[in-house]
Amino acid sequence: MSDRSPGNGHGEDAGLRAVVTHALELVTDGAAIGLGSGRAAAAFIAGLGARVRAGLRVCAVPTSSASASQARALGIPLIDLDGDRELDLTVDGADEVAPSLDLIKGWGGALVRERIVAAASRRQVILVGPEKLVGALGARGRIPVEVIPLARGLVARQAAALGLTATVRVGADGTPFVSENGNLTLDCAPSAPLSDDAAARALEAALLAIPGVVDTGLFLGTAERVLVGHPDGRVDVLQTRR
Ligand code: A5P
Repeated sequence: MSDRSPGNGHGEDAGLRAVVTHALELVTDGAAIGLGSGRAAAAFIAGLGARVRAGLRVCAVPTSSASASQARALGIPLIDLDGDRELDLTVDGADEVAPSLDLIKGWGGALVRERIVAAASRRQVILVGPEKLVGALGARGRIPVEVIPLARGLVARQAAALGLTATVRVGADGTPFVSENGNLTLDCAPSAPLSDDAAARALEAALLAIPGVVDTGLFLGTAERVLVGHPDGRVDVLQTRR
């Protein structure tokens, strides 16, 4: 993971524990589960590990080496995403959630694998705190775009033409962050939050059309539900009408 949010207080941990408990109720015996990446996903993996120790039978596909190591250490059996296997459920975090449940993901640097695993799942369930809820995508300031290293300049210029200021993400040591796919991430700051869901779709299409763009952090229409954990332990379940 390239960067994470600042530490959270005990109240927010109560919210995270509550959404993990809720998400675990969606896991049935024998299920194939996609494991997201980041703090919320790690809390879910910890809870799933406890259930596996208690006898629950599941198998899982991780979206990052961090999630894979954690799952392995907890005894959660990992499988490859091969053939025609469909996963029952993916549980992941997000960086922004719009009222339509469109998302921004990828601040943690695992968006390409998160996309693949979510697309291979019947349901994507997202765990967040209330600070991730926004009126419009882009409100928290950056949309990650994973790019082939050769294309960084080209993508940054074309992103500028789309109204985005692109910055190559760096790691803690100040060198460019390299994803597990060997790519760079351009954090693209819009001059203002995207006006509506249609604008998000238009921006996604324009970004994906730039040579060298592997994927974007715009996860539009992927979430089946979003569980919002409040500091007092209350959980709001936001669902799409699909
Ligand atoms: C990882 O690439 C991301 O998409 C994470 O799911 C997202 O950054 C949310 O992470 P936290 O749960 O750590 O906030």
